[in-house]
Amino acid sequence: MATRGQKQSDEQRLTELHDKLSQSKRVLVLTGAGVSAESGIPTFRGSTAGSWRGFTISELACPEAFQRSPSQVWELYHYRREKSLAAKPNLAHVAIAKFEQFCLKRGIDFMLATQNIDRLHQRAGSSRVIELHRSLFLVRCTACDSVTENYDSPICEALRGRGDPSPQADSTPIPEDQLPRCAGCSGLLRPYVVWFGEPLNEGELSSVQEFANMSDFVLVVGTSNAVYPAAMIAPDARRSGAQLAEFNLDASCSSSNDVSYFVAGPCGSTLPKALPRL
Ligand SMILES: NC(=O)c1ccc[n+]([C@@H]2O[C@H](COP(=O)([O-])OP(=O)(O)OC[C@H]3O[C@@H](n4cnc5c(N)ncnc54)[C@H](O)[C@@H]3O)[C@@H](O)[C@H]2O)c1
Ligand SMILES: *[C@@H]1O[C@H](CO)[C@@H](O)[C@H](O)[C@H]1NC(C)=O
Ligand SMILES: [Zn+2]
Repeated sequence: MATRGQKQSDEQRLTELHDKLSQSKRVLVLTGAGVSAESGIPTFRGSTAGSWRGFTISELACPEAFQRSPSQVWELYHYRREKSLAAKPNLAHVAIAKFEQFCLKRGIDFMLATQNIDRLHQRAGSSRVIELHRSLFLVRCTACDSVTENYDSPICEALRGRGDPSPQADSTPIPEDQLPRCAGCSGLLRPYVVWFGEPLNEGELSSVQEFANMSDFVLVVGTSNAVYPAAMIAPDARRSGAQLAEFNLDASCSSSNDVSYFVAGPCGSTLPKALPRL
């Protein structure tokens, strides 16, 4: 329990951060699954973590799992696509989108980089989003390699009603010819997210790292900062002179003891107070 005095100084810290952000020259916002938790999308780690049929995420979010059972991996991604499509951006996404508008108007260099694949930042109005792990709404053909956007719901008839996360759910494999297929060559499609063991887009990653290193503030929001290489962005920027502000549920979630501002609480409540808007 926070005492009244402590609460007051938390508020003062928040005001101080708000003022410093409005006077900064360059700000990077780096988000993770926690920013979407209040939209009802489960995270992978922490108290808001979800689970799917008892698997850990790294067991299914990898090329080996897709090779072994494309049906099972498609069920999981179908479930996540439908969940994201049904979700709405929350106050945290909105605060970030409004902060971008503020920065644009004030001539502050702004960048948003997310580890999320749900596209909720874009739906909240953020205009330039670097999707480090790409998106649930991109597919790639395993035969001809063509990449397309896809918002179909469901993505194919055989997946309709499938994907239930409970361990008792029907897991009869769907025949491969009924899984999502390429419109051009009818090859098997895969979800085009970055899986464990796959590289991030090198150019994108280094542009974020470069921007981070030249920022005066890096805001780390709702991430356990456990997934590499994204986890290196903030510590590197710190070494290059940026101040870090971290937003997470409580101090036990802090990814570093080198943050200038740790803002505890659900980011849907804290970000609207910390981020300047027009
Ligand atoms: N929404 C999505 O797109 C989504 C969802 C789950 C996982 N992922 C993927 O999972 C990987 C996991 O890394 P990660 O660090 O992003 O997520 P993570 O699941 O490892 O960590 C989530 C963090 O958010 C915090 N959190 C939970 N609710 C919060 C709230 N309301 N306010 C502030 N913080 C809150 C948790 O304490 C935890 O530290 C990423 O690669 C990402 O692509 C994406
Ligand atoms: C960012 O800074 C870190 C530490 O100061 C450094 O190791 C890294 O090479 C820098 N990266 C870029 C792209 O500038
Ligand atoms: Zn194809």
